[in-house]
Amino acid sequence: MRFRQLSLALLLLSPGLYAQVARPTLHEALLAARADHAGEPGVAAAFRRLADAYGTPLYIYDQAHIGGQVDALRAAFAPRFHKLRIFYAIKANTNPAVISLLKAKGLGAEVVSRGEIETALRVGYTGPEIMFTSSSKNPGEIRRSIELGVVLNVDSMDELGQVQAEARRQKKQARVSFRINPGVDPHTIHQINTGVSESKFGLHLQDGIAFNAYEKAKAMPEIRIEGAHCHIGSQITETDGYVLTARKMLGLVKDLKDKLDIQLAFLDLGGGLGIPYEDGQTLMSPEDLAKALEPVWKEGVAAAGYEPTLWLEPGRFFVGGSGYLLTRVNTVKQTPLKTFVNVDAGFNTLIRPAMYKAYHRVRVIGRTQDPQLVDIAGDVCETGDILAEARTLPRAQAGDLVVILDAGAYGFSMASEYNARPLPAEVMVEGDKARVIRRRGTYSELFRNTGGSVPTKR
Ligand code: LLP
Repeated sequence: MRFRQLSLALLLLSPGLYAQVARPTLHEALLAARADHAGEPGVAAAFRRLADAYGTPLYIYDQAHIGGQVDALRAAFAPRFHKLRIFYAIKANTNPAVISLLKAKGLGAEVVSRGEIETALRVGYTGPEIMFTSSSKNPGEIRRSIELGVVLNVDSMDELGQVQAEARRQKKQARVSFRINPGVDPHTIHQINTGVSESKFGLHLQDGIAFNAYEKAKAMPEIRIEGAHCHIGSQITETDGYVLTARKMLGLVKDLKDKLDIQLAFLDLGGGLGIPYEDGQTLMSPEDLAKALEPVWKEGVAAAGYEPTLWLEPGRFFVGGSGYLLTRVNTVKQTPLKTFVNVDAGFNTLIRPAMYKAYHRVRVIGRTQDPQLVDIAGDVCETGDILAEARTLPRAQAGDLVVILDAGAYGFSMASEYNARPLPAEVMVEGDKARVIRRRGTYSELFRNTGGSVPTKR
């Protein structure tokens, strides 16, 4: 025990020295890799243990990190917002073991599909603890949501009509909130910038469109209006967009109260909190965000004359930094122009670099010498399959392990079997233990559902 405490202190004070002298636990090795000590023998031994036991490519999650992120968000918001409810946007990482951790921390589930509803139920959520947001819900998804008492974030007048008809058929009231497009640019990557006016999401505040939706819904006995929802984008690194959005949304809250006598149970300001993907990167902390929102919230609530519960629904913030994608070098090749380190993962395993030009840190395990400028190239047969471009890293050889950091959000959940490669395994690390939370895909799974006569309807 005393040794563990001493070694933890050493890890925090001097991760490099620690990694050289001690035998780190798996959890400590993950932290040491993050602190750029993946070259040290003790750290390398831990990663080799994982690779030997479970193979590569392998998603590894650090359980302690996930709990820590929830605590950090709550510590920033709970003292300032007395009526607060936090959801986890499960699309970021849909592994039931991951969702269970967040459920155990008291979070609700934000879902985007029938499959995510079923996943949340499997983990133990009940309908009323689930909120469903999508700009395009199919009739089966609407039916199931109303049956279960899921909150539906309605995205269009067309959808409102469909929800009303289905609720009437079920002789139930549908729990409804509208997704609002506030017309705010949070300055993030184009593909994940959802709150701007030209995006496909939500009913615009502009021209009273959102207001009219509430007015219509109020006249529908099958609809129970519960709240207002928005989500302006993902990987947001500054507070300004949130502050402007909160101001606009609270303006709507006041209008609904003053002009339609509608009082909302909640106002959902979405998810989108960014995480640092680069060494030395500083960005908005939950504390910065809570502090920036507090005065706007107080002012808006005072003007409206009542306080809805503040709902938040981050995904990446909870799980992104917990994930490590462990991969093995197949070959190293020098071309006249570049050096490619060819690994056994590709954009089928982690699509973010190819899809968004996203940056992920890379560490070579067990190597410290002879830095080289390299591209980490995937094993998919496409030119765009580069996981990391132009990085200076210690020289790697065939058979070495390479780990890609911050792969816990939108990593496995966006993975595919493209190029007929089975899906990777996932393991959860707690202290010095690892447990398989999804076994590796198999070759026979590549042919599942293809034989005989199979149902094609949902
Ligand atoms: N709520 C809604 C309605 C959303 O659409 C999203 C994410 C979230 C919450 C959670 O956002 P987060 O807190 O994770 O930023 N695949 C992209 C990110 C797409 C985000 C889609 N919506 C990526 O890898 O960066």
